[in-house]
Amino acid sequence: MDFQSLLEDIVATLRPELGEAGHVANYIPALARVPAARFGIALRTCDGHEAHAGDSTTAFSIQSISKLFALTMGMREMGETLWERIGREPSGNPFNSLVQLESERGIPRNPFINAGAIAVTDRLVSLFDAKAEMLTLLSSLCGEPVQFDEEVAASEAATGFRNIALANFMKSFGRIDNDVSAVLDAYFHHCAAAMNCLQLARATGFLCRDGVHPFTGHQLLTESQARRINALMLTCGTYDAAGEFAFRIGLPCKSGVGGGIVAVVPDRLTLCVWSPALDSTGNSLLGMKALELFTAKTGLSIF
Ligand code: DON
Repeated sequence: MDFQSLLEDIVATLRPELGEAGHVANYIPALARVPAARFGIALRTCDGHEAHAGDSTTAFSIQSISKLFALTMGMREMGETLWERIGREPSGNPFNSLVQLESERGIPRNPFINAGAIAVTDRLVSLFDAKAEMLTLLSSLCGEPVQFDEEVAASEAATGFRNIALANFMKSFGRIDNDVSAVLDAYFHHCAAAMNCLQLARATGFLCRDGVHPFTGHQLLTESQARRINALMLTCGTYDAAGEFAFRIGLPCKSGVGGGIVAVVPDRLTLCVWSPALDSTGNSLLGMKALELFTAKTGLSIF
């Protein structure tokens, strides 16, 4: 399949819609300054072929896509014990919702909503320097040095009142071991990692290779762990739009409010799309359309 021409076609099809609909995330002030009219797409196949088009080498804030890598570290380090404090069900609620946490006694529904990722990060903070480990993992997975955007991290720390509330609420149930400020510092930094589409298409490669590192061939996760992450991405990776994503795209996906979405075609390839204007569920509007075009044109879907 000529993936390069396909991605160029998708960019050409969607370019007229750039900047037309949706809103750039503005609850994190540093993200509100990102121009809306950007679109990039990249993929990397299991046998190492790459294709990319549009703004595919422009770095953006990975935001909740980091939850995927935090979960990867958590599963690798803790195995089954990770699930003592985190569920595996879709929430059906916005990513920053507090409502279920009270009735479910401080146990977040899944590792991809904010509360769940904060709970995973707490476990990581108990084990090692979670910020440094995240950069080491991301850099190794994409084969290039990855850094945090300190301005974005500081901006979120200054305005992240809901996350502060979520972390304190879980702490009140005895579900957070470390100082809330240390856990949130790591969580905000993870979200502020700056990467581009091509780097993310490479970095997620272990998910289409049964857990094998895309460059070193080292088994990063077991086959079963990689399969489970894909399952969680399908059911929970795009929050209360996960049903719509499964219906329209049919691939495990993980989105972030920076406008990025990564997607996995098991045993074939991983891809990343980026366009900063979001819909009301916090998912990239053109990113979703691009993935829909990709699966329609290629027939690559898990269904
Ligand atoms: O914690 C937050 O609200 C952001 N750092 C990340 C949220 C996010 O990306 C949700 N994704 N769609």
